Amino acid sequence: MIGRFIAGKFRDPTGVFGRMAGAMMARGNKTEQEWTIALLDIRPDDHILEIGFGPGVAISLAAEKAVRGHVSGIDASETMRRVAGRRNAAAIRSGLVDLRHAEVSSLPYPDAAFDKAFAVHCIYFWPRPVEALQEVRRVLKPGGSLAVTIMPKDKWPPQRLPPSDLYTLYSGLEVARLLTTAGYEKVRVEGCPYPDQFPGQCVLGSR
Ligand SMILES: C[S@@+](CC[C@H](N)C(=O)[O-])C[C@H]1O[C@@H](n2cnc3c(N)ncnc32)[C@H](O)[C@@H]1O
Repeated sequence: MIGRFIAGKFRDPTGVFGRMAGAMMARGNKTEQEWTIALLDIRPDDHILEIGFGPGVAISLAAEKAVRGHVSGIDASETMRRVAGRRNAAAIRSGLVDLRHAEVSSLPYPDAAFDKAFAVHCIYFWPRPVEALQEVRRVLKPGGSLAVTIMPKDKWPPQRLPPSDLYTLYSGLEVARLLTTAGYEKVRVEGCPYPDQFPGQCVLGSR
């Protein structure tokens, strides 16, 4: 089992070790971030929300696509907000990107603000996932879509399994059931087409 301290820094990346975890996420999670962005089929005018942006790599990828729209992000870690802020400084200055320190359970946005939302490796940390998914649904426009990308619980190498009180691991089908319970429609599970790089799944649904 991966050590508690290290596992905890991916859940709550604060301080110097949080910044180190952020650097590992930036290097190690590119495949799933690019794949999730591709699945969302972001249009130039789209308004996008990322939940749990970590070091902000996927925020940059989304901003390359939503060039006439807007990209917002929230993360529960102020350390990650600063790291992602530095990575996306030019886009923040131009007004294309806005990053905030916030919890998925209480999103600082009005109803129906976004065309698309996504979360990569983040749902494991949500204490009340159905309520959180309902909160994300609230800020989606009618017909807007959500993508939740996970490493399914049966794909974690046994030596890297995180402590179960810090992470709740799911199968894609379990996440699909959570989305359906939270009121999403057209829920489907996609397997990553590059399993050698990321043997994960993305669960998509619409408001
Ligand atoms: C494992 S990291 C993944 C970061 C990034 N999405 C990636 O794939 O590299 C999880 C991120 O979610 C954030 N997070 C954890 N619980 C959260 C919550 N309840 N609300 C918002 N963000 C949360 C953490 O601060 C962390 O930056």
